[in-house]
Amino acid sequence: MEQLTLLSQIAQDTKIGLSSNPKYLLSKYFYDDKGSSIFQDIMHMPEYYLTDCEYEIFATHKQQLADSFFNGSKSFDLIELGAGDGLKTKVLLQFLNNNATTIKYIPIDISKKANNELVKSIKLEIPGLNVDAKTGDYFSEIKKLNGQASKRKIIFFLGSNIGNFADSEINQFLEQLSLLCNKGDKVLIGFDLKKSPAVIMSAYNDPHGHTRNFNLNLLTRLNRELNANFNLDNFEHHTDYHPINGEVKSFLVSSVEQTIDIETLGQSFHFEKFEAIFMERSRKFDIQTIENLAKRFSFRIDHNFSDKRNYFVDSLWEKA
Ligand code: AVI
Repeated sequence: MEQLTLLSQIAQDTKIGLSSNPKYLLSKYFYDDKGSSIFQDIMHMPEYYLTDCEYEIFATHKQQLADSFFNGSKSFDLIELGAGDGLKTKVLLQFLNNNATTIKYIPIDISKKANNELVKSIKLEIPGLNVDAKTGDYFSEIKKLNGQASKRKIIFFLGSNIGNFADSEINQFLEQLSLLCNKGDKVLIGFDLKKSPAVIMSAYNDPHGHTRNFNLNLLTRLNRELNANFNLDNFEHHTDYHPINGEVKSFLVSSVEQTIDIETLGQSFHFEKFEAIFMERSRKFDIQTIENLAKRFSFRIDHNFSDKRNYFVDSLWEKA
């Protein structure tokens, strides 16, 4: 136990995940520098429709989105949780900035590097916009903002990031979000919708191999950061979509019987031939589930903004 407290979070989570049955790793660790760059490749491939859909929603509905944000006052804080490169948000920020709004854009991310790059690009592309990036945990940063002069908040959580959460994590996340919102504050959440399994499978089992590399890169990270000895050639990437619960699940399957040593943990992990590590869930939703979630956490749905193909929804909720 004492040794466990000396281990980093990634070491502790790896120890727990690989000691479980079935084995699992946490997809939040995909995003080291290399993983973030592979995710950019994923977002740029034509099969990964999510990015295009959300971009289309923002480009097409920017006027209506802005009108819903104004709600009688053109002054608010626009907070974005995990903004990444902000590609989609910038379409809207540009529009808001041109329409004489007094907004402050507050991207919150755990990565200082991501924040710095985003701020740099915004200063260049949208000069005059008030930006105040915060590095840290989403909820503690929102709490701090609530402690300061209270302005109305619009909180973005885009890209179907919510789909990477297990049900219990979705509930926890929305409960905290609801607690931190005052009456009249709004949240805009990106949900990927259930659709033809063939479309979903080509996005998550792509012919370029980016998603495979995205998963395998976590093993490379563990080799580097925890002195592990994973041989990537001994793992096969497998993806599965379950059209009833809407979950895409990805796995790395051990193609041989093998033992992996992780020096930092002082521990070895045995893999049977064809034993799998559960790597990531990317849940797809339906409108009824989205409506139930909003209601359960005391939000009223203001509007569901969708793309032409109805693949994706940015759901705007107001705290009741
Ligand atoms: C970040 N997240 C919403 C992506 C998704 O679609 O679940 C991560 C991803 N995994 C594989 N491809 C993309």
